[in-house]
Amino acid sequence: MKNIKNKLFSKEPVTIGPESGYDNYIMAIESSCDETACAIVKNGREVIANVVASQIKTHAQFGGVIPEIAAREHLDSINIVIDEAFKQANECAGINPQDITAFAGTAGPGLVGCLLVGLNAAKTLALTYDKPFIGVNHLNAHLCGNYLDTDLKPPFMALLVSGGHTQIIDVKSYSEQKIIGETVDDAVGEAYDKVARLIGLPYPGGPRLDKLAQEGNPHAFKLPEARVDGYNFSFSGLKTAVLRLVKSFDGQEMPVKDICASFQETVSSTLLHKLKKALETSGYKQVVIAGGVAANSEIRKKIFNLENEGYKVFAPPMKYCTDNAAMVASCAYFNTNTFDDVNTEVFSRVN
Ligand code: KG4
Ligand code: ZN
Repeated sequence: MKNIKNKLFSKEPVTIGPESGYDNYIMAIESSCDETACAIVKNGREVIANVVASQIKTHAQFGGVIPEIAAREHLDSINIVIDEAFKQANECAGINPQDITAFAGTAGPGLVGCLLVGLNAAKTLALTYDKPFIGVNHLNAHLCGNYLDTDLKPPFMALLVSGGHTQIIDVKSYSEQKIIGETVDDAVGEAYDKVARLIGLPYPGGPRLDKLAQEGNPHAFKLPEARVDGYNFSFSGLKTAVLRLVKSFDGQEMPVKDICASFQETVSSTLLHKLKKALETSGYKQVVIAGGVAANSEIRKKIFNLENEGYKVFAPPMKYCTDNAAMVASCAYFNTNTFDDVNTEVFSRVN
């Protein structure tokens, strides 16, 4: 429960969180990479406004996200997404800016120039409406995407797979979580994007590779599953194996769909083996998947198969898998223990 008076932003002490005893409306802003997003969420679960402005088209021409261009696009979009979120909340629930309990923004990890735009907007809103402000960790927010429109309660085991991270997290309570395994080199999304580039797919590579994989033979090529201690992962060897395979065709036409399917099969099996081991050791019966790669068809399929073994599986719908602000609002409600002040800084990575 958060009941700390925020000296800089709020004249009145405000209590927020599941035990506050009244309805909380949190407006959040997300701008850590290439989506400018704003959302308003009631009591951490009920999404009453959700707006995302994607920059995919801009970055596609460069084959990846260019940080300086991304930051400038956030500046162009930020006021538009905020206005639209307020409009949606008013139309759908009669909520006005004065009804917002607190304003939240993603503080990191992410691209610093991009984060600055969203976090400063959230601070400005808090100052303008004299409400508390909360800085949110983007990775925790991805996990909290699973609280949206569900009745999920901890404890559970989570697999967080994004462009920058691959982690198995033991979520013991709303505010207490422990990373028990992570990648020692490339993140899953990064591996997807690099392999996609190797076989000549345009940006964004991950979803395109996934689509082609669904039409290929997953057992066409035997690719190596890295052996790493405990619950950790490694994907750089697999990426090199795909590179070798691609080179072996020496300019001849490649069976692209089969290569994609074989890569996808290896990645999804590796993730599932470790996740299952963590579940068995913990004794938890609930499992959650989060992060942009949680949109992947085969990873979702394999995790949902765990339902046949008695586990309850949660995976956010696609719109809450990739970057969005509703997950940030949910995280501010469930996962933070204090309000933050105007000196809260953005951070590029977690050390
Ligand atoms: O979480 P996210 O939106 O951004 C961060 O990294 O924080 O994740 C983006 C990553 C990219 O690497 C993208 O290629 C990957 O998620 N991705 C996918 C799929 N959809 C998005 N990878 C594989 N299959 C997909 N369907
Ligand atoms: Zn993300």
